[in-house]
Amino acid sequence: MAFTMEQYRESARAIQSRLGGFVPRVAMILGSGLGELGDEVETPIFVDYRDIPHFRASTAPGHRGRLVFGALEGQNVAVMQGRMHHYEGYSYEEVTYAVRVLRLLGCETLIVTNAAGCVNTDWSAGDLMLITDHIKMFSESPLRGENLPEFGVRFPDASRLYTPRLRQLARERAAELSIPLREGVYFYCYGPQYETPAEIRAVRALGGDAVGMSTAPEVIVAGHCGMEVLGITLLSNMAAGILDQPLTEEEVLRAGETAREKFSALIRACLRKM
Ligand code: HPA
Repeated sequence: MAFTMEQYRESARAIQSRLGGFVPRVAMILGSGLGELGDEVETPIFVDYRDIPHFRASTAPGHRGRLVFGALEGQNVAVMQGRMHHYEGYSYEEVTYAVRVLRLLGCETLIVTNAAGCVNTDWSAGDLMLITDHIKMFSESPLRGENLPEFGVRFPDASRLYTPRLRQLARERAAELSIPLREGVYFYCYGPQYETPAEIRAVRALGGDAVGMSTAPEVIVAGHCGMEVLGITLLSNMAAGILDQPLTEEEVLRAGETAREKFSALIRACLRKM
């Protein structure tokens, strides 16, 4: 299904009517088990996805399905507590719909977070990784179909999707806080099954350091409409086949709990300096 410019505008207007003149500048998409930062927003205005025309529900565990608008570390933020995934049955256009709406509302920056499997065997579960780039070439683009020039060009550059300036900023903040921060490539797999050990060997051979089921679609769309992007991954588990044990959703959510503090400290420090 193709969304029209009018539909994006209609969603933006519906949200705007709830914001009383508040203009968000930094959009944040918080992944599995990492949504609590949204609860720390000051003078929050909550908007449930189900109250926004054309929005889809978020059905994944650990995803709450609402937007939180307000201030965090002096920034006007719009926090998505819960994202949509392709594996939930949504098209990539539906998965990325909110990013364009947040752009229309005034967001110039996107901070994306996710939990992902750790493919790089020099690293450990529980580590944080700054996303330097991604690989998403085995599934269609969220930009497939008619281009909407109000958002961007037909053939957008993708060589700097993860904004170098923001990567440097995150690096410096992590060093100040003594939070170890890995840097690497996020490999998108659409799930919902976790990968096979053979797939993980393939991902590694192709240059992936982390593997997950989100983020890349939203970042492609954010880049297309001119947003700067900062992506941070929680390596919640060693990817399939590295350890002699099956992967479970509980493990992923538990890792989110454990990493919550350092994660929130890093994001807050980045926001302060943006
Ligand atoms: N694979 C894919 N997605 C994930 C994983 C994983 O190992 N862990 C958390 N999200």
